[in-house]
Amino acid sequence: MKKTLLIIVLSTILVGCQSLEVNSPDKSLSVRFEQTQNGGIAYSVQRDGKDVITTSQLGFLTDAGALDKGFKLIGRSRHSESSSWETVWGEERVITDKHNALTLCLKHETGIQMNIEFRVFDDGFAFRYIFPDKSQMTTALPIDRNNKSQITLFDELTEYRFVQDAEAWSIPWRTEYYEGLWTKRSITNDQSQITNDTLCSPITIEFADGTYAFVHEAALTDYPAQNFYAGDGALRTYLTPWINDQSPRLCRSTEITNDQSPKAYISTPFSTPWRMVILTKTLPDLVASRIMLNLNEPCKIEDTSWIHPTKFMGIWWGMHIKTMTWEQGPHHGATTTNMERYMRFAKKHNIGAVLAEGWNLGWEDWKHFDFTTPYNDWDMPYLSHLADSLGVQIVGHNETGGNAADYEKDLDSIYRYHAANGIHLIKTGYVAPIIRTIDGLQWNKGQSGVRHYRKVIETAAQYHIAIDNHEPVMPTGLQRTYPNLMTQEGVRGQEWNAWSADGGSPCEHVTVLPYTRILAGPVDYTPGVFHFENPVIPTTRVHSTLMNQLGLFVCFYSPLQMACDLPEHYMEHADAFRFIEDVPCDWERSLLVDGKIGDYCVFARQGRGSDNWYIGGITDENSREVTIPLSMLPKDQTYQLTLYRDGAQADWQTNPYDYVIEEQNVTSSDTLHIRMASGGGFAASLHLRP
Ligand code: NOJ
Repeated sequence: MKKTLLIIVLSTILVGCQSLEVNSPDKSLSVRFEQTQNGGIAYSVQRDGKDVITTSQLGFLTDAGALDKGFKLIGRSRHSESSSWETVWGEERVITDKHNALTLCLKHETGIQMNIEFRVFDDGFAFRYIFPDKSQMTTALPIDRNNKSQITLFDELTEYRFVQDAEAWSIPWRTEYYEGLWTKRSITNDQSQITNDTLCSPITIEFADGTYAFVHEAALTDYPAQNFYAGDGALRTYLTPWINDQSPRLCRSTEITNDQSPKAYISTPFSTPWRMVILTKTLPDLVASRIMLNLNEPCKIEDTSWIHPTKFMGIWWGMHIKTMTWEQGPHHGATTTNMERYMRFAKKHNIGAVLAEGWNLGWEDWKHFDFTTPYNDWDMPYLSHLADSLGVQIVGHNETGGNAADYEKDLDSIYRYHAANGIHLIKTGYVAPIIRTIDGLQWNKGQSGVRHYRKVIETAAQYHIAIDNHEPVMPTGLQRTYPNLMTQEGVRGQEWNAWSADGGSPCEHVTVLPYTRILAGPVDYTPGVFHFENPVIPTTRVHSTLMNQLGLFVCFYSPLQMACDLPEHYMEHADAFRFIEDVPCDWERSLLVDGKIGDYCVFARQGRGSDNWYIGGITDENSREVTIPLSMLPKDQTYQLTLYRDGAQADWQTNPYDYVIEEQNVTSSDTLHIRMASGGGFAASLHLRP
């Protein structure tokens, strides 16, 4: 990993109560820390001299008292950073981290010390609360079993008072597994209309002046996931609670403000996750922001040579369209014969791995899954040998049914078994709205759930196993620190188009995700349906054309990218399948060429370590034409363009299969004009001509 680092400590001095500013490197953004007469703490944010966020409260309610006022500023320090680092995999090979930071040391009247670190980038800002170790506390706090000071947090008081009217895209915080349709709500500058419900993090905001914000958190570790509610004219934080007898089962914001259940038990020294707001003037800049990754710690895995992005297929879609079963029986999917068929198909078509669900004991009643004993029609030694000889990996599947406690207890033996059989990719699953952790029944995004997921990633790394986590906590950039956390669900994915009672996700859904869920991190959406009629569940279907499915491979980023349909369905359109064979899932550079939240998007990406470019577009129910200047290509080079686009009769409802494949030579001075049908899209590969 290449890293150049410039840290300049400018000052550490004692000061009295006052407001203090820190500017972005380009000076366009500034964050001001403010203190009130009674020692209350707050911040505000200005861009180009105008308020974006007005005075917004900071602090906590804790078992040691309310940390909302009564603070004295006892020190401050500044630093600036300008560095770059190389990703193990990602949308970009090299990421630049340029910011100015201000850390404030605050002594509370109870004797608790709490520091706040602000970082301001050109495209947003972040801050976190830091509780130093007990030597800095001039009060007796409870001591935990490791002889560290312990504080129980009942509420985090962080708020965001955005100045402008806006529209915000979000999902309610109780949306099971985050698998909801993101909805747009109008918000006025007092945020009063943002919601009746409490909302998940992240929230994507388009302000009245056409600028954007993405409000989320980074580096969520040993802390509950944040949520938001509107109250007292601000967007306020609601931390996912521990479930105990007093915990609320309700989600309306007014009820949440009265929720006194514990949210986090912290042992000092402790840093909270970063509270992060990306602020940009354009949508391409919002999508290009890498603040969240920069806020996460550098990679902790020394040797990452075993971590490889790959496309994969799977014995999977058949179960969702109900032509196969997870459990044994006449239609059992994960048999040796079937797996061999998939693996040989994958080999032939440049797909690096095959997932098998339903290979292990336990699917009959979901009571106890056994992750080291296959069904008797699954020959593990044979398939493991075949994987090795074909060079096609097996993606193991560990569905826990929400029993995280049992899974955690056996992690070592489970991963040892998989590694011994050459399996270095595992899809995990936690199907249960409330999971059972070592702390009992808990929200998966509460502190206990967050600890579990972290344990899984750290243990998997020891066995050289990479994870595709389903029913996860919302991603926060942890893949920088643990690049074996490759992709996650946390989305209303393609499977809903197989069986959902509402008939499948509306066309608009996929045109919201690149600006919302996917800004939080890679998504295992599972694109690539090529056959739209479902004989078993005819009332549900994919709301897209076949070309829209191809476009998803470029628009939706995942270093483990699933081509989800059946081999026989791909062979019905072998010419279109060539794009899936060709497209990579690891990138040198990525950019949003054009788009509008909830309407359409066009992405262009350069393959990692390659001269080739790929462009993909998708639209909602409205057909539209997009104009794409090829100025991203290097000058004076000729590229062979293969364009896969909707045909003149294409329409997701009436004719999803109408498509045209065209080839031509292009250069950086050319411009493409491409029409996408209703629910349509396109994909293009641009190969450098020798
Ligand atoms: C839900 C997951 O999202 C899906 O991909 C998986 O097939 C089922 N659980 C069974 O584990």
